[in-house]
Amino acid sequence: MKLEGKVAVVTGGANGIGKATVERFVAEGARVVAADQDSEAGAELAREMTAAGHDDRVAFHQCDVSSEESVAGLMAFSVERFGKIDCVFNNAAIAPRDVALVDLDIEQWHKVLDVNLNGVLYGIKHGARELKKNPDGGTIINTSSLAALSAKSGPAAYSASKAAIVNLTMAAAVQLAEFKIRVNAISPGSILTSLVIKLRGPAERLIPVMERTQPWPEHGRPEYIASVALFLASEDSRFMTGQNLVVDGGLMAAGPRFIDRVAEIQEALDREAAAK
Ligand code: NAI
Repeated sequence: MKLEGKVAVVTGGANGIGKATVERFVAEGARVVAADQDSEAGAELAREMTAAGHDDRVAFHQCDVSSEESVAGLMAFSVERFGKIDCVFNNAAIAPRDVALVDLDIEQWHKVLDVNLNGVLYGIKHGARELKKNPDGGTIINTSSLAALSAKSGPAAYSASKAAIVNLTMAAAVQLAEFKIRVNAISPGSILTSLVIKLRGPAERLIPVMERTQPWPEHGRPEYIASVALFLASEDSRFMTGQNLVVDGGLMAAGPRFIDRVAEIQEALDREAAAK
């Protein structure tokens, strides 16, 4: 029960990583507001929580994180419902299809930044205003991505938004430390959720690919990120702030696989030469 007595707000809380985190936080004793624009999935989450006997500890609130007003309203709702906020998990995001920068639709670019980056900023701004009222501060967790750390790991607009979150996390951590508010980011690798399925195809085709994408021989699951969020939300990480935790089954550690790639390219060139 690492979050006994705590109140958490989780954006993107109706699906995927956010939903797994809502469930984990509740299991660890927290009361949680799951915020999402997807009201259908939100209603389903509420039904599941009621069936599990947690209806007094979980509330769904429809929210569009790209609207500052909506995020301010989310924090007000959470305080009204549960009396305070100890943890804000800024996790909602969208991932567009990738297009070449020269062909990029600027409206689409702004949309991605509005949701993915501005949404996190609003969560920090309005969340921290509440956390500052607690004698022992609180925690803010932002979901970045492995895509923040290199090109070609995600659509350009998405990757840029996620890279900015890493720096925003540091800025917030430095500014809010004096109030005992810790701010950290999580950068997941490839996790099987609807976001990935929409971009890359059905689960049954994806899973075997995902199992071979990274050194770790299993595909990424939302629960793996939820347990890292729990660590960052709990006292276990009390002296940790301004960090970006990469949770990717060793994908980054495997690096650019330079030696393998050189060998593959050499083989391809040899085949081409032999075919001539
Ligand atoms: P998901 O699509 O299952 O969940 C995202 C949730 O955000 C959805 O419930 C969606 O309705 C909500 N959302 C989208 N726009 C919103 C808005 N304007 N206002 C409120 N809610 C909104 O995707 P997943 O994978 O669980 O994503 C969670 C986070 O993890 C995102 O920040 C994503 O970028 C990040 N991530 C996911 C990875 C993966 O492989 N699944 C890899 C790296 C990062």
